[in-house]
Amino acid sequence: MTGLADIRSTFLNYFNKQGHEIVPSSPLVPRNDPTLMFANSGMVQFKNLFTGVETRDYKRATTAQKCVRAGGKHNDLDNVGYTARHHTFFEMLGNFSFGDYFKSDAIPFAWELVTKELDIPKDKLLVTVYHTDDEAADIWKKVAGLSDDRIIRIPTSDNFWQMGPTGPCGPCTEIFFDHGDKFWGGPPGSPDEDGDRFIEIWNLVFMQNEQFEDGTRRELDAQSIDTGMGIERVAALLQGTNDNYATDLMRALIEASAHATSTDPDGSGKTHHRVIADHLRSTSFLIADGVMPSNDGRGYVLRRIMRRAMRHAHLAGAKDPLMHRLVPELVRQMGEAYPELRQAQALIEETLKLEETRFLQTLDRGLKLLDEELSGLPEDAALPGEAAFKLYDTFGFPLDLTQDALREKGRTVDTDGFDSAMAEQKAKARAAWSGSGEAADATVWFDLADQHGATDFLGYDTEQAEGQILAIVKDGVQVPALEAGETGWIVTNQTPFYGESGGQVGDTGYLRRLENEDDMARVTDTQKMGGGKVFAHQVTIEAGRFAAPDAVALEVDHGRRSTIRANHSATHLLHEALREALGDHVAQRGSLNAPDRLRFDFSHSAALSADELARVERDVNAFIRQNTPVETRIMTPDDARALGAQALFGEKYGDEVRVVSMGRKSTGKGQDGQTYSIELCGGTHVMRTGDIGAFALTSETASSSGVRRIEALTGDAAMQELRGRDMRLSEIEGLLKVSGDEVVGRVKAVLDERRALQNEVAQLRRDLAMSGGAGQGGGVEAKEIGGIKFLAQALTGVSGKDLPSLIDQYKDQLGSGAVLLIADTGGKAAVAAGVTADLTDKVSAVDLVRAAVPELGGKGGGGRPDMAQGGGADASGAEAAIKAAEAVLGG
Ligand code: SER
Repeated sequence: MTGLADIRSTFLNYFNKQGHEIVPSSPLVPRNDPTLMFANSGMVQFKNLFTGVETRDYKRATTAQKCVRAGGKHNDLDNVGYTARHHTFFEMLGNFSFGDYFKSDAIPFAWELVTKELDIPKDKLLVTVYHTDDEAADIWKKVAGLSDDRIIRIPTSDNFWQMGPTGPCGPCTEIFFDHGDKFWGGPPGSPDEDGDRFIEIWNLVFMQNEQFEDGTRRELDAQSIDTGMGIERVAALLQGTNDNYATDLMRALIEASAHATSTDPDGSGKTHHRVIADHLRSTSFLIADGVMPSNDGRGYVLRRIMRRAMRHAHLAGAKDPLMHRLVPELVRQMGEAYPELRQAQALIEETLKLEETRFLQTLDRGLKLLDEELSGLPEDAALPGEAAFKLYDTFGFPLDLTQDALREKGRTVDTDGFDSAMAEQKAKARAAWSGSGEAADATVWFDLADQHGATDFLGYDTEQAEGQILAIVKDGVQVPALEAGETGWIVTNQTPFYGESGGQVGDTGYLRRLENEDDMARVTDTQKMGGGKVFAHQVTIEAGRFAAPDAVALEVDHGRRSTIRANHSATHLLHEALREALGDHVAQRGSLNAPDRLRFDFSHSAALSADELARVERDVNAFIRQNTPVETRIMTPDDARALGAQALFGEKYGDEVRVVSMGRKSTGKGQDGQTYSIELCGGTHVMRTGDIGAFALTSETASSSGVRRIEALTGDAAMQELRGRDMRLSEIEGLLKVSGDEVVGRVKAVLDERRALQNEVAQLRRDLAMSGGAGQGGGVEAKEIGGIKFLAQALTGVSGKDLPSLIDQYKDQLGSGAVLLIADTGGKAAVAAGVTADLTDKVSAVDLVRAAVPELGGKGGGGRPDMAQGGGADASGAEAAIKAAEAVLGG
């Protein structure tokens, strides 16, 4: 029982038996701490439980926590590889009590675990306590039977543990292991304590105070326990060494590195393999937790570690990218305890390969330049800052990488010179930008981007986080604070809120001040400013006052974000379904991923047929039901295209693109030839396609020439849409008294019937008019005027459309003569006149209509000499109109 995996499970199981909940490690990027770069101890995820701000349904917990210490305060990067116990990544085992047990249980638990479960000989152990903590000393004496000289009182901060400048804290007791006199060193508190002989293996913190910014401390209401045991150190001692790199897990990684470079793990490349083994762990775990290499913040720390490892791989003799080839061994070693590693394996390998490929292209040239610079300098002179900056700027050498390279030669860098070269370059970039014609009020955002760098976006894997306010902007200028009722923009160092881009709308939600959770700002939108670097939350302050550098809890509206995710992922499936149904010419021309709907514009010239629409909708739903995981990877745009990824035409992509894949299909694309949809996309997506729920098309229209637009719904909205359609159909079935397949036939029959009835009614009206039936004022006789038979009649119940056929019938009746008919269409009048062919040279139907129309309150009228029509607004002038027509004949 000395392997690292066994120690981990022994620890967790022991505390589980003592009533502790086994809680998974929190991600390396803390969700609940506004300023901490990476989780650096087990208690980080429980911080609020110690201060009483938060409670959970357990009071005892135990964890194996992933930790990274690189960048920020605890920066061990420079030493890693050269010493026995420095790491950028390590695992901390811990047990925690939240106001439950305290010293008198914590110490016996620790003693039992160390001496019984791990079987570490008692005589090799000694402990320290805080100098005033008599209680802890007494407990040790009683429980462990340690003599006074092995309970060492330490008056310094070494035995008073603080999370940071503020937060929970308390005295601690530490357990040390004596590796024996073959190593140099003295016990803790002695002048030689920094030697390699006495090694701390476990720190038990008695959390009983809270430290505030002004230096004061309060007693916590509840006394708690926070312990941290470095698993690598314990593994080392159980394996008979005091070198963490000689333990089973680290050794396996070192051997993998040596094997891949065909070198001796313990030969001249020993340090390189140690660096590689350590950095492989930190980089892989960081990538698995969503950090991507970049030139800002966490991403830059990752890049620095990666590049340091890559330089050592190069020094170890690797000609091609090496790091990604070691990932399988890491997954073999740690994938079981940390499943996220296995899940992200492809992403880790690709990210490492990409970074290393790119970096190798400049590494040789950079190192050559470094040598040239050094050769021109006196023996022990520091490298000028400008030269270091040039390496950074041109070859991507982070400062610490240059320092690391110089260290082997016993040289240093002028870091002040480096900083001023960096500041000068920023100033130049700004000057260049200010002439670029961007809107004046954009200045404030570029200022913020310069000052604070890019906002860390956490929203791919969380919707809640804590952040620190960096700046507040109102009406285009920075302001110190926003008061209740005011609106403005708040910028934080990190955020889970998605800033509108790529068709996906910005997130909404809430910010709450950690100092007083009643102080609340409603986030009504999120936008990316300052060239896309700065995420700005548009807020209305509901209560309290918000100012920098307040710490805030950021909470995305979960329901809204969930439907946005579903709509965005459905858009990808829709895109692919359209390409399959219509052809490869289909390309995205625009999209909207809103909470309530999705819209997709694409190139295609004709309207989609009902069959095509049905096929597209069916395909999208089939891939939803398939419920396969949605995968995200990072690669170069060229690699992404080689995989068959859909990119937006005309869109500019950076060196690295995010590639989102979903759906499985035997004749698909991608590396395995089985992926359905692959797109370049920075948006947020569902975890599995099944999370989309359902998909319903709502419309298909023309958007512009050659571009069609589809609108659709997902999830509950899709179901409601379908239910609504179903209810309307049921109502129709009820009205028609048929069901199912008969509905369409019945509707067709009803429409046919209606058309037949309309024709019949029209005919009946005409017959009625001809026969002088009801409402027509009796039959009319033709008069003889100027030797022409003239028949004139005002009618009701017929429309203007009926008049020409009535005129024809009257003309037939008369044989030779003229006819004038006026239809009263609800107060308005339609008029028509006809003249039989034999008389058209004597009188024109047009003249008759034109004479009648003014009397009906109209104007004009026209047609042919044998048939003319007109109309007016006033049917009451019918008599006068007939008279006017008679006058035409009589004249
Ligand atoms: N928080 C303490 C430490 O980091 C014990 O877990 O050492």
